[in-house]
Amino acid sequence: MPLDHASQLRVVPTGAAVGASVPGLDLRQVNDTLFTAIYEAWLTHSVLIFPGQRLAHEDLIAFSRRFGELDHAPVQENGRRFVEGLPEIYIVSNVLGPDGQPIGSLGAGEASWHTDMSYLPQPPKASLLYAAEIPHEGGDTWFAGMHAAWQALPASMQARLRGLRVNHDGTYNSGGFLRAGVVPTDDPRDSPGTLHPLVCRHPETGREALYLGRRRNAWIEGMELGKSDALLDEIWAEATASRHVYRHRWGKGDLVLWDNRNTMHRRDPFDPAARRVMYRTQVKGSAPPMA
Ligand code: SIN
Repeated sequence: MPLDHASQLRVVPTGAAVGASVPGLDLRQVNDTLFTAIYEAWLTHSVLIFPGQRLAHEDLIAFSRRFGELDHAPVQENGRRFVEGLPEIYIVSNVLGPDGQPIGSLGAGEASWHTDMSYLPQPPKASLLYAAEIPHEGGDTWFAGMHAAWQALPASMQARLRGLRVNHDGTYNSGGFLRAGVVPTDDPRDSPGTLHPLVCRHPETGREALYLGRRRNAWIEGMELGKSDALLDEIWAEATASRHVYRHRWGKGDLVLWDNRNTMHRRDPFDPAARRVMYRTQVKGSAPPMA
């Protein structure tokens, strides 16, 4: 089993294009040396899985803060905002609270492929998702490596894509729900969001990766809509091909950390009668995505 950083850390690659498991750690007890090793492993594998954690909200926030300043959680579909007193925590859940309202976002349906909050000018660099309650089956989360997908494209396609920008739509979330306070539209040319380069360079590793956001309401700036759709479909087919994907079957207590700058993720649906409760934090990006 590979040992990193003076044997501080066991890092077990998933064997897929992204992802490694880091067993045997208690994330409540991470010192600076260990954190340096974790950070290096994260830059290498893009997705890290820390099984068997027992994290209170405060522990999740404290570990997340080691990666940088945290974003406040976005508004849920029902207009609710934060966990009372802890604005950094976002809940992903299908569970209803005592008032009959969902305690979190995304329900029990599929969440389509996306990069977190790329409709913003400066999206979060990292997301951390902690599994507090999981269903017996379903609800797996899939991660696609955008560096591998970029490298797999033919040179002629890479040359065609350099310099293009894509609209990252802010109308709908990955569950297909309208974001709070947004007017519905299905015309990507005037939907709210942000234009980002289609190919971005990772600010820390220097490696290029596709930066796609989400497919719905995506549009390549300045391109006739039909042509934009055809080109995006071609790129998305490569980006989400199984050879670039790791599928995570959750265990209770898993903390999964991913890099939003070079991965996308999606989630399988699960039985709406089952309970799934996940707590998420997000680390602010240091700069807008750049070519
Ligand atoms: C998300 O898309 O951020 C949530 C993923 C999940 O529920 O597993």
